[in-house]
This record gives sequence, C-alpha cells and structure tokens, in this order.
Amino acid sequence: MKNNKLAIIGMGHVGSYVLADAMKVGLFSEIVVIDQDKNIAFGEALDQAHATSLTYMTNVHVHAGDYPDLKDADVIICAAGPSIITTEDNKKPDRALLAKENGEIIREVMTGITQYTNEAIIIFITNPLDSMVYIAENEFDYPKGRIFGTGTMLDSARLRQVIAANYRVDPKSVTGYMMGEHGLTAFPVFSRLNIQGFGEKELDHYFKGKEPLDRKTFGQKVVDAAYDVLNGKGWTNAGVAQAAITLAKSVLLDERSVYPVCTTLNGQYGYHGDVALSMPCIIGRNGVEQQLEIELDHEEVTLLQQSAAYIQETMKIAKT
Ligand code: 2OP
Repeated sequence: MKNNKLAIIGMGHVGSYVLADAMKVGLFSEIVVIDQDKNIAFGEALDQAHATSLTYMTNVHVHAGDYPDLKDADVIICAAGPSIITTEDNKKPDRALLAKENGEIIREVMTGITQYTNEAIIIFITNPLDSMVYIAENEFDYPKGRIFGTGTMLDSARLRQVIAANYRVDPKSVTGYMMGEHGLTAFPVFSRLNIQGFGEKELDHYFKGKEPLDRKTFGQKVVDAAYDVLNGKGWTNAGVAQAAITLAKSVLLDERSVYPVCTTLNGQYGYHGDVALSMPCIIGRNGVEQQLEIELDHEEVTLLQQSAAYIQETMKIAKT
C-alpha cells in the first residue's frame, strides 16, 4: 500500500517547526528528515518519534534520511539555507541578501532531488523565495507545476491577521491576499479584499475599525510584520510552517484550494518565463493545477510591475 510520505530538507528553526506541524496533522504515515548535519536530522527525528507515544500524536514513522529516501516521497518541503538575521544596525534586512549563498544551496538540493524523483511535489520556503523557486523551476528538468514556493501565502496570512485585528473579527472571516515578491515589495490586492463580502470601500462603514483602511499604511504594516517577529524572537517559523503544511495537505488530498503561491509566470501579466512571483493558484495533486490571472486595478498593476522588477534584480545576484 502507498504511504503518504513527506520529506523535509533543512532542519533549522523553520524546518523543525514544519516537522512538528507535520507530525500533528495526521496526514503522513512516513516523514523523512534531511539535513547536511546528520546529527541534527537524527536528533530532530528521534525527538519527534518519542512524542508519538503521547496523546494527540499520530503514529508516524519519522526518521532521518538522505536523498535516496526521496524516491517514493509524495511531497518535499525545502527549508534549507540560512535565514535573514536582524541586527542593531539593520533591523530590516532584505531577504535578497541571501540570494547568492542560498542560490547555491538550492542548486545542490535540486541536484540531489532530481537524482531520485521527478514526481514529488516540491514546496520551497528558502529565501529569497522567488529567486529560489525560479532557479529550481528553470535550471532543472523537473515537470512544470510540481515545484512552487510558499510565497505570499505567509504575507497573506499576515494581511488577514492585520485586517482582522483592526476590525476585531476572526482572520478566517477575512478574504484577501498579497501578491508579488515574498519580501519588501509584496503588495495587498485591496481591490479584492473583503470581510465576508464587505469590500474595501465598505469596511470602515460597517465595522468599528481601530483606524481607517489606508492602502499604503496597511500594506506597510504587513511587510513590517515579518520584522516585528524577527526583531522580537530572532527568527520566524510558525506562520510559514503552517503555510507549508496547509499546501502539502491541499496536494495530498487534491483539495484544489486557491492560495497565493510563487511560480514562474507563463504569459500572465505580460511576463513570459522571466520572473517567478506569487499570484493565486489552484493547488491539487499535481501541484500548481492552474495560475489564476486575476484582474488588478491600475495601482495594483504598477505595484506588481515594481515587485517583478525587484525580483529580477535579485535573480541576477542569485545567478552570478
Ligand atoms: C518571513 O517572512 C523571514 O521570510 C520570512 O517570515
């Protein structure tokens, strides 16, 4: 019988949180943990194995492994490579600073993966996310659609939380998303934002907001949200881990859920294979089943173009 097998590559703050979430979600019968430091992979897997004896835990076969273990993986989540670190002098470091180093790591990871599978759905988390997805999708011979990145799914979760907090409602009642780069140039699609059908122009009328909805202010709050966490605890992991596991679930159960994820554009918004960024996509058993080119208003189109140009600059760093 076929297992639902997950592989997680990279066991830092993010990968270990993905593992913890994956252990609890009740979807996987086998999880293989891969890290360049085999002791860390062994320790993380064993620690989680101990938890399977306890209430609420699913009996998952969790173990450390290596690239050959990917041959029958259904989903691979890649969180390999260092994360951005804030300092006293730079409280808002650009994810693009990691482009060169992490570009090389993603090439190594993809070289390892492609030796053993071209079937697994690969979900990237590594930053700068858009350039990393572009490298994986375009420098390797892997079926289109089977590689994508968490992208602005995380930024979108933050947007929904920021809007929900302003209007004091459940974030799950907020529909809305960020598009473009997972980074400084991500932008909210305000023209489509709503709380159960109450749109941008109606929110301040119907709901008792703490402050009026201003595009620029709220867009900035969302982008800054990552740094609020980073300057607090030193890293981010809970939000992005939940995003990755939610996407893996949509793949395994063929949910065909719509999420903003990062993929290479193929004609959408006038880009033909020359940039990867986040836009709404249908996620199912084959990965990205469809990219949904939603109509944007004039201001949003400009923001998309600025974001795409910024990603293309970062891609140049990752290439050299
Ligand atoms: C985040 O947005 C740093 O990309 C990471 O949480």
